[in-house]
Amino acid sequence: MVITKDIKYIGVNDKKIDLFEGQFMVENGMAYNSYVILDEKVAVFDTADKNFGEEWLKNLKNALNGRTPDYLIVSHMEPDHSANIKNFADSYKDAKIVASEKAFSMMGQFFGSDFADRKIAVKEGDTLLLGKHTLTFYTAPMVHWPEVIVTYDDVDKILFSADAFGKFGTLDTDEDWACEARRYYFGIVGKYGVQANALLNKALKLDIKTICPLHGPILSENLEYYLNLYKIWTSYGVETDGVVICYTSVYGGTKAAAELLAEELKKGGCPKVAVNDLARCDMAEAVEDAFRYGKIVLATTTYNAEIFPFMRIFIDELLERNFQNKTVGIIENGTWTPMAEKVIKARFEKSKNITFAENAVHIRSVMTDKNKDEITALAQELLK
Ligand code: FEO
Repeated sequence: MVITKDIKYIGVNDKKIDLFEGQFMVENGMAYNSYVILDEKVAVFDTADKNFGEEWLKNLKNALNGRTPDYLIVSHMEPDHSANIKNFADSYKDAKIVASEKAFSMMGQFFGSDFADRKIAVKEGDTLLLGKHTLTFYTAPMVHWPEVIVTYDDVDKILFSADAFGKFGTLDTDEDWACEARRYYFGIVGKYGVQANALLNKALKLDIKTICPLHGPILSENLEYYLNLYKIWTSYGVETDGVVICYTSVYGGTKAAAELLAEELKKGGCPKVAVNDLARCDMAEAVEDAFRYGKIVLATTTYNAEIFPFMRIFIDELLERNFQNKTVGIIENGTWTPMAEKVIKARFEKSKNITFAENAVHIRSVMTDKNKDEITALAQELLK
């Protein structure tokens, strides 16, 4: 695939993977992107997952058309991109390796060598002249590991953005970008909003025509749309006006309450109502919904003087990603010694800018008329 006259795509599509990073379901697989700039000097951007060494080296060889690379630029040391650094180094013995100092120490850990004799360590603002193209490196710590760098090409105005602006799914998957990019962002980088926002601010100062991420499609049209979503995501803002209801239910009582609330919200004109059964849905989908909307309702039973396990896991997933700036409604259920409301409130004690809805719902086994009134009151409050 040709990106510009001098830049080619040499990445691979992984259609066999089931769990990305050992935890995220990827029904449509994953792309490990890699690029090559053919100028007076030749620079390769990143490698690919270990299962694709041969295919990636073949793609590189085809793109080189008889030339040899001068540089391998290592943006990120996570093995989905770095696994073939040694294979590359063995195949092209004169090529230098360009990366952050931290990345070189990680190479020592992964490959038993930090390639000291071929090493070019770069830091913020350093440049590399390829001929016509000058590359400028920017550090992007914790997007998504500490050693990450991104690179700007001043000729084609391309940002090689590492994991930022990435998405689940192979490149030949036809699906909504935002849906799988949001699940990817909050799943993988969500905890590091501050750092991702700092990278975004660096990027906004550059004149960018194309973003080449390490996963997902190359972005070259309507960049404002993608940059704007990243502004919202990295600042834990509200992307979509609406409410997400996340529930667990043992015998259906809590589920019935969650569904009644959804109905009341829709009847009241709520622009979007999303409902997730935490025992059955993809937890990563529920997590992205929690960050997408400004209002969330947690409906759960008391369980072992705590809350139901799937809700406990879900809240942990949110807290781990610095969940903040939301209104939280609670529907609790408990046949004896109900604890859920108290437990949920305590879990968010240290979270920034969480406002609990005044109208909580307190079910004692199954919904009563009083509970229905509580649900109406909660719906009305959330609709304001
Ligand atoms: Fe795509 Fe953090 O590696």
